[in-house]
Amino acid sequence: MLPCQRHLFDIPDDVAYLNCAYMSPLMKAAFEAGKTGLARKAHPWELTAPEFFTGAEEFRATAAQVLGTTADCVAIVSSAGYGVETAARNLPVRKSQTILVLAEQFPSNYYPWQKLANENGASLKVVPWPEDQDWTAAVLAALTPEVAIAALPHVHWTSGGQLDLIRIGAACRQIGAALALDLTQSLGVLPFRVSDVQPDFAVAASYKWLLGPYTVGMLYVAPKWHNGTPLEEGWIQRANARDFSSLILYSDQYDAGARRFDMGERSNFALLPAAVRAMQQILEWGIEEISATSGAMNRRLAAAAAELGFNAPTEPLRAPHYLCLRRDVAIPPELTHALAREKVFVSVRGTSMRVAPHVYNTEEDCDRLIACLRQIAAKG
Ligand SMILES: Cc1ncc(COP(=O)(O)O)c(C=O)c1O
Repeated sequence: MLPCQRHLFDIPDDVAYLNCAYMSPLMKAAFEAGKTGLARKAHPWELTAPEFFTGAEEFRATAAQVLGTTADCVAIVSSAGYGVETAARNLPVRKSQTILVLAEQFPSNYYPWQKLANENGASLKVVPWPEDQDWTAAVLAALTPEVAIAALPHVHWTSGGQLDLIRIGAACRQIGAALALDLTQSLGVLPFRVSDVQPDFAVAASYKWLLGPYTVGMLYVAPKWHNGTPLEEGWIQRANARDFSSLILYSDQYDAGARRFDMGERSNFALLPAAVRAMQQILEWGIEEISATSGAMNRRLAAAAAELGFNAPTEPLRAPHYLCLRRDVAIPPELTHALAREKVFVSVRGTSMRVAPHVYNTEEDCDRLIACLRQIAAKG
């Protein structure tokens, strides 16, 4: 477990921010890295051509360490949706086949598959919410031979349910289904290695558990798809991009590996250094340690909440960092406003209250949430 790291963040003492699943606060060091990068645009005469590539390569290499892969397999994308759309444009599906998604799956990992299915006479196969909260067993049961693509998260975003991606990856390979992952609610806080799971594509937006800025993310692309079709046909994804003077000698060749899938203007001088700084800190802390730290707070919160009539799936069916509390009476979305007035920050997603602590949270933050839950329970 890590000691509290709040000193690295700019979070006032009276703010109990338990909402990393919505958006993480930017660390002071990441904020500084971003500011320095943004300031470079004030002096463009100092920006050299190689810098359009060095920052991107640093991001790729650092993201590769977090994912457990090589830089060649990482593309730089703007959002989870961009990454999922890239996967959907490249993974084949035939008439009468299915694409597997979970009930209540996040929209960015749903709409591209719905469109792909409609375009090909295929259909979506929606894994129903399992009564025993075991999403892994439910997915394994649904992986039947007609499934062409399993489009899944590591953590189900409205229940906190955790999927065993190693077993699911193996089951996909057995039936010849492709595996496309949205790791936005897990990468950086839940151990994951590409080599263990062997997905075809895996995307993660930076702005939650990777503690990065908004509008930058990473897309893992397995080598077998490196000859695929990118969403954009810009100059920087081409093999000759490094030579600015010969850009109009149009090249048929893309840049190496997954670089062809990079979003346009990916060399963002403000966002990439901030994202890299945040990932370096995550690697320094260690993802298992972050998970244990966040998990211990949630365990304590879950136990206190249970006494007040709230329930949540238990570990390991639930991811340690992601606690979704429910009770018999629905939790109204307005509740978050009342809590925010007390400077206690959580979210309501679906029918549950989502609590998502990180290494900057304190015992006192948890106590304050428990006090709020007590008030809610007393009101009935
Ligand atoms: C599971 C999941 N995926 C992705 C996202 C973000 O999607 P996008 O980057 O397409 O805006 C969120 C945001 O809440 C999410 O919860």
